Amino acid sequence: MELRDKMQKHGKVLIVDDEEVALKNLKHVMSKEGYEVAGTQSGEEALALIKDQPFDVVLTDLQMEKMDGMQLLKACRAASPDTEVIMITGYATAETAVEAMKEGAFYYIAKPFRLEEVRKITGEAMEKVRLRRENRQLREQVERYQGKVQIITQDAGMRRLLDLAKQIAPTDCNVLVTGESGTGKELFARYLHNQSNRVNGPYIAVNCGAFSMELLSNELFGHEKGAFTGATTSKTGLMEAASGGTLFLDEITEMPTEMQVKLLRVIQEKEVLRLGATKPVKVDVRIVAATNRDITEEVKRGSFRQDLYFRLNVVNLHIPALSQRMDDLPLLINHFLQKYAAQMKKNVTEISPEALAKLMNHEFTGNVRELENIVERGTAITNSHAIELAHLPDNLLESGTRFRKKDGAIMTLEEQEKEYIRWVLNEVGGNQTVAAQVLDINRVSLWRKLKTYNAGENQAEPPA
Ligand SMILES: Nc1ncnc2c1ncn2[C@@H]1O[C@H](COP(=O)(O)OP(=O)(O)OP(=O)(O)O)[C@@H](O)[C@H]1O
Ligand SMILES: [Mg+2]
Repeated sequence: MELRDKMQKHGKVLIVDDEEVALKNLKHVMSKEGYEVAGTQSGEEALALIKDQPFDVVLTDLQMEKMDGMQLLKACRAASPDTEVIMITGYATAETAVEAMKEGAFYYIAKPFRLEEVRKITGEAMEKVRLRRENRQLREQVERYQGKVQIITQDAGMRRLLDLAKQIAPTDCNVLVTGESGTGKELFARYLHNQSNRVNGPYIAVNCGAFSMELLSNELFGHEKGAFTGATTSKTGLMEAASGGTLFLDEITEMPTEMQVKLLRVIQEKEVLRLGATKPVKVDVRIVAATNRDITEEVKRGSFRQDLYFRLNVVNLHIPALSQRMDDLPLLINHFLQKYAAQMKKNVTEISPEALAKLMNHEFTGNVRELENIVERGTAITNSHAIELAHLPDNLLESGTRFRKKDGAIMTLEEQEKEYIRWVLNEVGGNQTVAAQVLDINRVSLWRKLKTYNAGENQAEPPA
């Protein structure tokens, strides 16, 4: 019991009492408790110590010469808000007690006190400090995790891309990230920011396709008060807000051409002119733009300015489609399994071989985002520790079955054609003339085909 108590007691205590004997006594008691203890007879010196080093708990006498306990309490709360203060006094009145608590004291102990009481209350104050510290650490951990980017891959091409991204991240050059929807363009943008020297600056993402021309302009460049009817206050644009950091311009090809001109100007001049303003403001932004369209095609067609394209595309990071790197699939599945199992507090740790095989054969037009959704859904609906075939979405289970025979073997082209013609015939109520029209072949060809298919059980009539 005593040993356990001793082991648990950590922390720094400062004792302030102008009476030498009392001070010595308390110091002795607190040292025996296992705390790191400092002491002083003066309020002023106490405050200097508090400003100089982090104390967890301050035990102070109320009645002292010059700076008294109440003044010390106030000064301490201001200088070191995380330090808990316990007030001790021989002249306990209800008023001082209330005042001390109001000023943020942890507790108020009246003399003569029992040592046991001081020990207990100090222990409680320590615990409060410890909990607050732990909470803060947890919150910071969560924040760090949320801002943290994990790009999961073992694909050689992706690794080269990551190396390139890491290499150029600390430079200020603009980057154009391209790739199909869901391949991780935004993830790369975030990665570039996190790996850059701008990491402590802002990271601001704007979807250029989500606003009308006027709204986008207003968002990006801001306006002065009175710039237009209804502009009752001025507004800082995101360009300005992102200064010192990274601006992620998503769906850049959706930016109207008029805006493209403005953006080009900002990039060239490194300054922004708010709507209605006369003087431009200096900005220092690193631009990462993204698109899932073929932007060179847009340049050729004239819907995207070539000069802006060159300015944005100083470095191009093209992220390959998931279907180009299926060796990443197990790794990604595992990553998302862990993510969602933890989030849903479920003990789902694996995917069955059948389900994995099914996914390996899937096309993933929605790329990593589609995979992530499938794993999230599977984790949510499984009752076991694994995602199994039955937990995959229906469309996935059906895909490919059209091209398989009942035993699962893949059909030959002829078998597929036969199946298809039968289906069309059935759809048109068995009328061969109509079926031939639908199939866009002549009736004689249709009849011949049916004849070969039905070699044994020939039911097809020769066309008239
Ligand atoms: N390599 C990867 N490792 C881990 N997670 C990934 C990876 N690639 C993509 N993701 C995840 O997939 C999802 C889609 O990625 P992201 O939003 O970056 O795609 P996008 O290319 O910007 O898509 P869109 O073109 O539709 O905007 C995100 O949740 C992202 O975290
Ligand atoms: Mg995106």
